[in-house]
Amino acid sequence: MTADVISAETAAEMDRIIARYPNSRSAVMALLHLMQSQQGEITIGAIGAIAERLNLTTAEVSAVSTFYTMYKRRRVGEHHIGVCTNTLCAVLGGDAVYQAVSDRLGIGHNETSADGRFHLERIECQAACTHAPVMTVDWEFMDDQTPSSAVDVIDKLAAGEPVASTRGPMIRDFAATERTLAFPDDGLAAEGTPVDALMLAGLTVARVRGMAAPPAPTESTQQPQESHQADESEEPSA
Ligand code: FES
Repeated sequence: MTADVISAETAAEMDRIIARYPNSRSAVMALLHLMQSQQGEITIGAIGAIAERLNLTTAEVSAVSTFYTMYKRRRVGEHHIGVCTNTLCAVLGGDAVYQAVSDRLGIGHNETSADGRFHLERIECQAACTHAPVMTVDWEFMDDQTPSSAVDVIDKLAAGEPVASTRGPMIRDFAATERTLAFPDDGLAAEGTPVDALMLAGLTVARVRGMAAPPAPTESTQQPQESHQADESEEPSA
């Protein structure tokens, strides 16, 4: 796919996204999500089309798409299942959750089921440690998982039954979520309960105790930058 062969509809959607930014190159991440929503992965053609549209090199677009793990260079399929096995989730059972899901789906890390319905990935910390162990389905959070609750989610998705994220909207599919990431003004961010008392526990304690963050440094309070230049009087050590 290059800019001259993408559909008129896709070109118009790319322009809608680009128009949101004062500097067009800032649209690169949203455009990658748009392409991923259409293709299920980031293809060489998609990188070329985005580069042409934003007047970037393909190396620059490719660098962004390979740096962020939400961009996939292999087709994901209908549902992306992420299981956090980073430190806190692992300590609280994330490895067992991952193993149970892997066993149920018959696939391992970065593999897609033969029918193309599920893709499994061990994921790094999702900044959701309050509700560890955490699983994501098409990037939506499933908090406080156990092996049996995670397998139950998989079974419901496989049966086509409705599944609600524990704090966000109903689960749709990977392509639909990717489209939301390209066009986040679809109102879904307001669905569910994105923040609860447990997540705000630290803030609540700080307020009760009258704690506050130290004032931001001003120019006069900032420490002078350390010079990285060697003192000319210093002799190199032997
Ligand atoms: S370690 Fe899993 S969400 Fe932080």
